This record gives sequence, C-alpha cells and structure tokens, in this order.
Amino acid sequence: MAEEQGSECKIRKAESRDLEGIAELLTVAGLCRREGLIPRLEYMLRNSPGLCLVAERHDKVIGTILGSYNGFHVLLSHVASDNSGSRAGIGGKLHHAFAQQASALGAVGIIADSWLTAAGFFYKLGYRIPGAVFLIKDLA
Ligand SMILES: CC(C)(COP(=O)(O)OP(=O)(O)OC[C@H]1O[C@@H](n2cnc3c(N)ncnc32)[C@H](O)[C@@H]1OP(=O)(O)O)[C@@H](O)C(=O)NCCC(=O)NCCS
Repeated sequence: MAEEQGSECKIRKAESRDLEGIAELLTVAGLCRREGLIPRLEYMLRNSPGLCLVAERHDKVIGTILGSYNGFHVLLSHVASDNSGSRAGIGGKLHHAFAQQASALGAVGIIADSWLTAAGFFYKLGYRIPGAVFLIKDLA
C-alpha cells in the first residue's frame, strides 16, 4: 500500500505495536468499551490486515479506520481521529486510503454505520442513505 503523506501525517497499515494506540482512540471517541478490546482488535488485524489503517504523526497513532470484507462490500466499522471533531483532515485521509484498499479488493462499495453526529462526515465523503435498515440481534 502506498503510504500517504501530508500535514506531517502518515497513513499506513496497522501493526501489532499500534493496538494500544488504536484502543485508546476508540475508547476516548466513545466507540468501544476498553474491556476486552485488544483481543477484538487483534482479530480484526489478523483477518483484515489491509483494512485496518492508522494515521501516524511523530510516531504517535492519531487516527484509525477499521473494516472487513465479505466478498461483496467492505464494512467500515470504526473510524476515529485524535481530537475528534477538530476536522483537521485526518478522517478524510484515512478514508481515502481505506477506499483505495477496498477498490483493490474488488469490493462493490463500502457500508458504514455511523452515529447521527458523524453522518455529515460520511455525506462529505460521498455516502448515501440506502433503501435498507440496519438491524442488530444482541447476543448474550
Ligand atoms: C468522524 C471523525 C472520524 C472525522 O474525522 P476528522 O479528522 O475530523 O475528519 P476530516 O477533518 O478529515 O473531515 C473530512 C470532511 O468532513 C467534514 N466533517 C467532519 N466531521 C463532520 C461532522 N461531524 N459533520 C459534518 N461534516 C463533518 C469536514 O469538515 C471535512 O469537510 P471538507 O472536506 O469540506 O473540509 C472524527 O470526528 C471522530 O473521530 N469522531 C468521533 C468518532 C465517530 O463519530 N466516528 C464515526 C462513527 S464510527
């Protein structure tokens, strides 16, 4: 994967050494509970190495985007940037590299689930609301 540079921010594939930084970002953003998070991230990294990316500045993980591929679509499950809400361009850069990875896999599209507060971010990136609903069955 071509590394993307700009504003001293480098986008690259996530590695094991990034797991704590990714977990911190996701927890601070309120996307995940910290408890049991590292094993889940290890699973994602092992099974979708090309779709787990980080933004790095001065050797610090300042953003991440995580997804998986089901043979049809890439599912974008998590995206978070340091100082979330600051709109410093990190999320957009991460998504650009993520979409390139999804295209390279042959995916027909990217499906993202988002909080309403972040929907504007996805609209900016060209997402639309599909004619479908998102259903969840919780497992004990
Ligand atoms: C959503 C998030 C990843 C965006 O990261 P970011 O680094 O601020 O994004 P960018 O600065 O690259 O934004 C890209 C574009 O989207 C716009 N944008 C970003 N967040 C937005 C929002 N909440 N509403 C409307 N537009 C938004 C930016 O203004 C920018 O527009 P531009 O290209 O015209 O300048 C970040 O706010 C975040 O971590 N939020 C908390 C976690 C979250 O909600 N994740 C999404 C659900 S999984």
